[in-house]
Amino acid sequence: MQVITKPDTIREIIKGVKKKGMTVGFVPTMGFLHEGHLSLIRRASLENDFVVVSIFVNPLQFGVGEDFERYPRDLERDRELARSAGCDLLFVPSSKDMYPQGYATFIDVERLTEGLCGASRPGHFRGVTTVVAKLFNLVSPSKAYFGQKDAQQALVLKKMVTDLNMDLDLIVLPTVREPDGLAMSSRNQYLTSEERKEATVLYKSLLLAKELVESGEKDTHVIRKKMGEVICTAKGAVIDYLEIVDTKELKPLDLINGQCLVAVAVKFGTTRLIDNIFVEV
Ligand code: PAF
Repeated sequence: MQVITKPDTIREIIKGVKKKGMTVGFVPTMGFLHEGHLSLIRRASLENDFVVVSIFVNPLQFGVGEDFERYPRDLERDRELARSAGCDLLFVPSSKDMYPQGYATFIDVERLTEGLCGASRPGHFRGVTTVVAKLFNLVSPSKAYFGQKDAQQALVLKKMVTDLNMDLDLIVLPTVREPDGLAMSSRNQYLTSEERKEATVLYKSLLLAKELVESGEKDTHVIRKKMGEVICTAKGAVIDYLEIVDTKELKPLDLINGQCLVAVAVKFGTTRLIDNIFVEV
């Protein structure tokens, strides 16, 4: 596995790979890899001849006062994990190379970015779409892989790919969970042991929503109220949002009729966790 830091170098390598007629699969990450990332890399390795993984803690997608500085970083560990999951090239650019002095171009997907995490984290998705577009340009993958845990991110990126006529398939794979249901996330390691126990209420609340819908409840106000009660059993939990939205435009629903996304964001101390589940009547 090669480790490359320079954008020009990766472009040259990819040119060579494509000349040989090989397909390129791409998994963009911010590092501190866990089973969720590894499931994406393994799938990319099954479906493509050459797999690129990027590790870049993108300053553009963090707001003021968020965790950019303390975001976990461990390149040695990530290098070994990525290699063993089937990565052929690890791309680890610097902020200076991604956003040199005078950088002035940004990508904004409208509407889909207004609610959920977009409302709580202004500018976050602009940072995500800008960096992912740049990475797609450098790697030119035929397939790129993302996790369902970041459901809004996946939808926003799909919209960007469609609207900007990008020539690639964006593949979204299921959320990987700990045995007690907590969605895997690099941020889980911020949790104290007490918060870690309490954090299981996210998935419990989502399972309750699914159960309620499956037993005929369609009123989202009733479902959200009961989910809130489950989350509030954790003393340290502060709900950021708890929404039931349609899966195309992410607009809040009053009544469930078809498929919808139940999405939660909850803070435990300084750690903000998100999770979601699809439900259908
Ligand atoms: O999901 C993430 O880890 C990041 O948002 C991504 C897609 C790598 C862009 O920085």
